[in-house]
Amino acid sequence: MTIKIFTSEQEAARAVGECVNSFVRANPRAVLGLATGSTPLPLYAEMAKACAAGVDYSGVTTFNLDEYLGVPPDSEHSYRYFMEKNLFSQININPANTFVPDGTATDPERACAEYEQRIRDAGGIDIQILGIGGNGHIGFNEPPSAFDSRTRIVNLTAQTIQDNSRFFSSPEEVPRQAISMGVATILDAKRIILISYGRAKAEALRGAIEGSPDPMNPASALQGHPQVNFYLDEASASALTKQHKTN
Ligand code: F6R
Repeated sequence: MTIKIFTSEQEAARAVGECVNSFVRANPRAVLGLATGSTPLPLYAEMAKACAAGVDYSGVTTFNLDEYLGVPPDSEHSYRYFMEKNLFSQININPANTFVPDGTATDPERACAEYEQRIRDAGGIDIQILGIGGNGHIGFNEPPSAFDSRTRIVNLTAQTIQDNSRFFSSPEEVPRQAISMGVATILDAKRIILISYGRAKAEALRGAIEGSPDPMNPASALQGHPQVNFYLDEASASALTKQHKTN
């Protein structure tokens, strides 16, 4: 596990962007795991900039972590819509190679199993990008989430509904369920990069990095992964009690 602490979101995003873009340059058929929310937006801007400067995304495949259950892909609230707007339309990726769980599948359980199979068929995820919830969730693996969980339908906690209501006109509009990759699905990625900004994540990060692995803090499962890198701003790192490397 490595922990890098940056003075600004832009600096952290630039560093993660350099990792992702250099991986794609060296591996034109890279498989990337992607997140939504506010955290990855500066990274996606870096990827778009790199693509405009010549990094070729045409052979890259992507898998998103999650999608709201019952929300159609063309809804402005869907994570598919978010990804189209903030990344896919900004890089030269082949739309057929971008996968987001289908929130409107007629048989969602089967869609979850098929999503797992698609990831395996693609050869697994090379780099998984993660944000973290204030409650330690990764993807929508809310506490408690079993470390051997796979892509499935999950119930969102009251805190997550409240946190995500900023994207809706009221908390009542936030879907109560989602499809999410499981903790074990995430742990299968060859490399994991967790990005976090802001004080609201600090306690969850302390538990994830310094606590004992505990399903009540799903991000603590990352301690069992051989190649996980945390990219934090100072506010997010502010509750860490041990000595960590500053960039
Ligand atoms: C979204 C996701 C979530 C977010 C987390 C942080 O696809 O997987 O785990 O990463 O809720 O959200 P933000 O970045 O909005 O603070």
